[in-house]
Amino acid sequence: MRKSIRAFTGEIVPADVVQSIVLGASRAPSSKNTQPWKLILVQGQALENMRVDYLTGFNNGKAPSFEYAYSKDPLPETFKTRAIDLGKAFLTHKGIGREDKEKRKEHDSQNYRFFDAKQVFFLAVNRDEYGQGTFLDCGLFLQALINELYKRGLGCCPQYSVMAYPDLLSKHIPHSENLLFLLALPFGYPQVNHVVNTFVSKREPLENFFRVVE
Ligand SMILES: Cc1cc2nc3c(=O)[nH]c(=O)nc-3n(C[C@H](O)[C@H](O)[C@H](O)COP(=O)(O)O)c2cc1C
Repeated sequence: MRKSIRAFTGEIVPADVVQSIVLGASRAPSSKNTQPWKLILVQGQALENMRVDYLTGFNNGKAPSFEYAYSKDPLPETFKTRAIDLGKAFLTHKGIGREDKEKRKEHDSQNYRFFDAKQVFFLAVNRDEYGQGTFLDCGLFLQALINELYKRGLGCCPQYSVMAYPDLLSKHIPHSENLLFLLALPFGYPQVNHVVNTFVSKREPLENFFRVVE
């Protein structure tokens, strides 16, 4: 069963394996075969430099500046309830009390460290090429990428949170002025027994989202 992986062994996924993952993902469908996705792998010193800037930003309370709204604001009530449930369940699983501000800040900072992954994919589209459907194509590509990773015993966690600092993305990713970044995907070999990786999120029962008409 797939689930988000947020702690990695530190072993680097070799370049030939990365290439076969990305090639496999590129078989994702897209409307009219437009293939609007752009994928950038950041690793090595470039990633370490980016991580330092992200953490500094987070620790100094840098204001978020998202370039696209992921969802309605405020969240619709049902979504809000699920999001709150998830947050509570994950913190409880990690043994962090709601009042423990220090541990909660450390927990939040994990996003801005890219969960200490050694390799992070960034998914983007050209700023002058996208429409709403493009995001759907990119979602399919993202899921294909996730499947390719898991097929090889790798794990990952999609991240919207780190889209908060687009200036840092353009600072550390050369020639990205014309890109709208959608998501980060830290990936690697899972630390299987790490507490963050043993968490299993809930799902709605089938009848809440599926029906048959005949
Ligand atoms: C578009 C998208 C953005 C996400 N952003 C974050 C994020 O910023 N930080 C994080 O820890 N998880 C993030 N997640 C992971 C979700 O929290 C996770 O998929 C959800 O809780 C279901 O859990 P599972 O992936 O383990 O099944 C994101 C997932 C998606 C699809």
